[in-house]
This record gives sequence, structure tokens and C-alpha cells, in this order.
Amino acid sequence: MARTVFPAGFTWGTAAAAYQVEGSPLADGAVASTWHEFTHRRGTVRDGTNGDVACDHYHRFSEDVAQMRRMGLAAYRFSVAWGRIVPSPGAVNEKGISFYQRMVDSLLEAGVEPWVTIFHLEEPVWLARQGGFEKRSSVDHLVSLGEILFARLGDRVHHWITVNEPSVYAYQGYMTGEFPPGRKFAVRPLFACQHHLLLAHARLCAAWEARGMDGMIGLAHHALWAAPARPQDPRDCEAAMVMDELSNGSVLDPLVRGSYPQRALRRVGRFLPRTLDHDLPEMRRMGTYIGVNYYARYAYRWSRFMPILHSTEYHAPDAPRSAMWEIYPDGLYRILDRLRTDYGNPPCFITENGFPLAEKGGAPALDDTPRIAYLADHLAAVGRAIAGGADCRGYFLWSLLDNFEWNYGLSMRFGLIRTDFVTQERTWKKSAGWYTDVIRANAVDQ
Ligand code: BGC
Repeated sequence: MARTVFPAGFTWGTAAAAYQVEGSPLADGAVASTWHEFTHRRGTVRDGTNGDVACDHYHRFSEDVAQMRRMGLAAYRFSVAWGRIVPSPGAVNEKGISFYQRMVDSLLEAGVEPWVTIFHLEEPVWLARQGGFEKRSSVDHLVSLGEILFARLGDRVHHWITVNEPSVYAYQGYMTGEFPPGRKFAVRPLFACQHHLLLAHARLCAAWEARGMDGMIGLAHHALWAAPARPQDPRDCEAAMVMDELSNGSVLDPLVRGSYPQRALRRVGRFLPRTLDHDLPEMRRMGTYIGVNYYARYAYRWSRFMPILHSTEYHAPDAPRSAMWEIYPDGLYRILDRLRTDYGNPPCFITENGFPLAEKGGAPALDDTPRIAYLADHLAAVGRAIAGGADCRGYFLWSLLDNFEWNYGLSMRFGLIRTDFVTQERTWKKSAGWYTDVIRANAVDQ
């Protein structure tokens, strides 16, 4: 058995997002998000469920915080539902603010540090009606949400995540149509959306710095490991490099280097907002750390039929897969190592990593041994990166509870704790006890 020991003070947490756990999306003066609208449209969610109740965290958060305490979590990452706080442009809903204040208080009382995500893949319908993140005005709206949160929670919250996964929001919303606004192959809006989210990140960091607040602020990047399907084929290698630049470089380079990756620029430059050159110097603002959400490797093949990118995703028949993706722990090591070698070794946190298991009828699956194996392998990869000098300071497991997994719905389960979506009963799975032991030992065995 091999043991990986983490540095003293390494932060152990779990992560979640408002629409995925809270339920009661229209309670106490909240207005609808695009997710609320989207999930009430037929054919948008694979199992036909929605986030109307989800984990009922809106009413049961104290119970869930008690679970966190029992597990020994040092930190809990959660997001705010924008529409609870800002029901219309310029307005503030006190009841929404009060919900998050109570949540923060209850976490602090339990000795769990709150990490607040300002934007987690969820915008109010009023913003979408104005064109959402396709329009530059979205940047100001998101920054004013941040200002409200800094002002009203900033005395107790010292860890912020500005934006979760700009690339995913843009790609799923405007290319695959699996997320709202549900558009497909809308290439120009896709790049506009990502660009505006990155610009908003930079301005949120600036606003936070201007207030002289202490603590940390950063963006959670969806880091994927892009690999050629046939490493010996130069065209596959080129396809993987393009996809790597588009998914990783086009988020990290503006933030850290104030530039856009060249190979990607050659392919998609004509679709990028005309303001790119003007904005890049301002966008060069990482904050105080980089958040890494990592789940999987993607293999790419060159394809004549795919316009512009000439690349298509390939599932190798022998590659190990979860219910959603290819399992590739080494990708996490490589991403962290690349942050060290190519991006100046910034402080970083694993802001998400987790394993989906679909539950198919019958008895609840409490023995989630494959999840434990996945998590242990990924933690060992983090340990290797740290041993090699990467400045990784913590790990947030996705997720504490089974919750609403976006377009997959309630049946795709990521939780350490099983949620019974009928009775709302919470039951520890094997992985919950395992994670408790990892936290206690500050080490993982494989
Ligand atoms: C998102 C989460 C999501 C998780 C698993 C990330 O892309 O930030 O909201 O549930 O991955 O798919």
C-alpha cells in the first residue's frame, strides 16, 4: 500500500452549486434563473427531472452543515443563486441575502470555512432577456452582484471564486445546447460569452482588491487533459493541441499572460469579440490563486468533416470510463505540473473533482467503491504534483450530496452522501467514511 501525505494546513472541502442543491428556486422573492426555465422545457434534462426541490438545501442547510462537521471538512464551497439576490437590475432582495448570511454563520459556527462562488453556471432570466453573456453589459451586471456580496458577506467570507468554468458555460450553452440558452453551433456568441465571463472575473478581482479585503480570490477553470487519439499521428496531435488551447489556454492565458493562445487564435480568431486586443491587458488578472476543476481526459482525432477545428472526440474502447467520462488521474498531475512549469506556479486549489455513478432502480447504492478508487488515484496525483513543487493548497470534492447534475438530472449521482429525493433522507455512502478518514489523516492510501 502506498501512502500520500499532504502538507500541513492543506484545505479539505467539498463543493456544490446553488441550483444543484438548494431547491425552492422561487422562494422569498427570488426570480427565475435560466436553469429553472430550461428544466421546465421538455427534452432538456435526460431523466426529465428539475431543480425545484433538489436536496432541499434551502431549508435543510443546517442539517447539511452538521454532516460537514461530522466529516471534519475544513471548507465548503457553494454558490449564490443570482436571482435570489438581484430580482431585477439594480434591486436587492434582503431575504435572499439573509439566506446566505445564515448559511455563512452556520458554517462558521461549525468551524467550516465558507468559499463563495459568485457565478456558477446560473444567470437570472432578466439577464438572459437582455442577451445574457453574449452582451458586454453582462460584465457590469455580474460585477455589481459581486459588489453586493463583498459588501454584505465580506466581513465573514474570506475566500471567493469569481466565475465557475467559463469555457463550459459557453460551450454547453452555445455549441452543444445542453445548457441554457440551449443554442447549437452559435460560434460567435460562444466566444463572446466566454470573453465576457473572463472580463467579469478580472473586474471582480479588481473590485475585491480595491476594497482591501483580506483572503483569496480566483476563478475555477474546467481543466481537461486533451490527448491525441493516435499519438503517432501528427494530425491527431495537432487536433489535440488545438483543443487543448481552446479549452485550457483560452481561459488561462488571458488571466495569467494577458494573451490568447496562437494556434487557437489562427483557427477561431475571426469569431472572437473585436474588443479582444483592447481587453487583454485588463483581463490579465489571475486573482490570488487558480481553481482547477478536473474530471477527465478527452482524446481527439483529426477529422476532415469538422469545419474550422478539424478535430473530433474519440472514445478509445479500452479506456476506463465512469458513467460520464474517461478516467485519467495522470491528467490532474499533468495539469498541476503545467501550472508550475508554464504559468509561473501560482497558488492553486482543486476546486472540483468527483465521480458520477448512476443509480438504476432497486436498492440504494451505498457501496461506491469505484468512487473511492477514483478519488484515491486523483488525490495521489495531486500529491505527486505537490512533491514535484506544484503549489496546490487544497482539494474540494464534488460533492457532499447527490444533487441535480444539470442536463443529466437527479439520477446522475456525485455525492459522498446519498440523497433520497423522495424523503430527503441523507445516508452516508462508503466514500463518506473514507473521506472522513483521509481528512483526519491528512493522507490517502492506495
Ligand atoms: C460543474 C458542476 C458539475 C460537475 C460535474 C462541473 O463542470 O462545475 O456544476 O456538477 O462539473 O459534472
